[in-house]
Amino acid sequence: MCGIVGYLGERDAYPILIKGLSRLEYRGYDSAGVALINGNGNLVIYKSKGKVADLDNLVKGKDLSGSTGIAHTRWATHGEPNDVNAHPHFSESGNLALIHNGIIENYKSLRTELSSHGYHFHSSTDTEAIVQLIEYIMDSHHITLEEAVPLALGNLVGAYALVIVNKKDPDSLIAARKGSPLLIGVGENEFFVGSDATPIVEYTDKVVYLDDEQIAYMRKGKEMVITDINKVKKTPVVKKLNMSLSQIEKGGFPHFMLKEIFEQPSALETSMTGRLYEKESGVKLTGIIDNKERILAARRFIICACGTSWHAGLIGKYILEELTRKPVEVEYSSEFRYRKPVLFPDDVVIAISQSGETADTLAAIQLAKESGCFLFGICNVVGSSIPRTTDTGIYTHVGPEIGVASTKAFTAQVATLIQLAIAIAELDGREPELRREIISELVKIPSKIAKILEQDQMIADYSKTFTYARNFIYLGRGYNYPVALEGALKLKEISYIHAEGYPAAEMKHGPIALIDEEMPVVVIAPRRGNYEKIVSNIQEVKARKGKVIAIVTEGDTEVKSMSDFYIEIPDTIDCLTPLLTVIPLQLFSYHIAIAKGRDVDQPRNLAKSVTVE
Ligand code: F6R
Repeated sequence: MCGIVGYLGERDAYPILIKGLSRLEYRGYDSAGVALINGNGNLVIYKSKGKVADLDNLVKGKDLSGSTGIAHTRWATHGEPNDVNAHPHFSESGNLALIHNGIIENYKSLRTELSSHGYHFHSSTDTEAIVQLIEYIMDSHHITLEEAVPLALGNLVGAYALVIVNKKDPDSLIAARKGSPLLIGVGENEFFVGSDATPIVEYTDKVVYLDDEQIAYMRKGKEMVITDINKVKKTPVVKKLNMSLSQIEKGGFPHFMLKEIFEQPSALETSMTGRLYEKESGVKLTGIIDNKERILAARRFIICACGTSWHAGLIGKYILEELTRKPVEVEYSSEFRYRKPVLFPDDVVIAISQSGETADTLAAIQLAKESGCFLFGICNVVGSSIPRTTDTGIYTHVGPEIGVASTKAFTAQVATLIQLAIAIAELDGREPELRREIISELVKIPSKIAKILEQDQMIADYSKTFTYARNFIYLGRGYNYPVALEGALKLKEISYIHAEGYPAAEMKHGPIALIDEEMPVVVIAPRRGNYEKIVSNIQEVKARKGKVIAIVTEGDTEVKSMSDFYIEIPDTIDCLTPLLTVIPLQLFSYHIAIAKGRDVDQPRNLAKSVTVE
């Protein structure tokens, strides 16, 4: 969602800010803006609907000097995407400018009150209320900006990550967070602020992650001071950033999504390194070993996640149940948090999130925490909110995922859940044979994925024939039912073609009515699991003239002979098939979207990290 960049130091701020905004484009946005305190001491603000490139064009020929500035990409929540609603917003006097991620729930009452004191609002945003409130508190209490910020923040209901510049104090920046991520890069006599690490990694690997309700006061040539909103000082904890510049660049691929699809063999290998021991036939997860009693005593596992991570969670349910014989529930975080779930202190709640910042999943964790459940996080972004809120967990460690449509994060989540299930089963000696078999197959998965990727050109050529389609159905059974959901989600989010995923046997209970010669049906039919059953489902589709695109195991003849098109995957055991069957579906969606001229890395209306509910 929205992105934040800030700079304070000796260099020209603008090039750092605009580059930072381009690095944040992957998060999804609809307008962009920048505020600088220029060489003449003026606070200048430029904002534009559209892309970061539009903003860069707008400022051509303008005075962009100055070494203090803030910049923002906005994903509209309050008020349509336009130049006025874009951030930064400025205060009544024009002395303060502010950028903000998150939602201020009491903005209407704040605006009404501030209007009654003579403050004028230009935009429809909640953000403008924050900057006006800060100035109002400064003026009415005759206090400095530093003193006014904690008071103002104490009056806000909702979530924020924000950065403020003050024309009257050009050598300082103030940043604060509650509920939305914010980190500060610490360089030599300079500071970089980011809503994630991508705008910072080029300049420094020393970062401070702000905690909720913390405020960072940065001043040129001085140490950063951090306080909470009660003005109690906190010691900044400087951490080393675990990210490299090459990880956030395209590396010769036309899109991040394609790069990330092709990264899966190496990403999965990295993700399993140091955890999976083929010789010893075991999985070592510190989070499980250190909490052995708590995990063994679990009454049940409850998985909370959204979107693609929820699909990984469904596969996790199947494998956890198969290996541990404990009950597993999979919940959409957004539903779980707003009903009254029955929770017990001996439940283990597993939160799955690539970004570690998804607002609904964070709220689900909070709810489970209040019931005393043990909290386990599976996340990709190191240092993000979910790993910091859960009792323990595992990082998937596949490096930054920049493409909005999740690919390598999904396969890593699935591989991690499989390892988690093995580690838990290992604790009480369950299923030793099956565990051994899974481990010896799991280590072969990266090379098998590489083999599927060799069919990329063939998939690209075939995909073009489907640009006409307005609908797709995806069918799978058992471990591949969640893959059907994931395949359909991938297609709709980047190609904008409507697609539905179903458990294949459910087709008869309704969706079969949709099938005719115009309807492409993707069937995931590896030669494992319920193969014979899915063969019957394909026959039902063919009998109604549907077009069948099948994912089959190498050497298959039966399904191939019934299909209009097929993509082969190497054989593996049933529970690992999702790690292979999803790969052709990712490529298929990518190539259809490209053939339709879509912006695959930044599909319309979508955000990479959904930090608002
Ligand atoms: C789809 C996709 C989303 C995310 C969902 C949860 O390709 O990426 O459905 O999976 O928004 O995000 P995280 O995993 O960051 O919690």
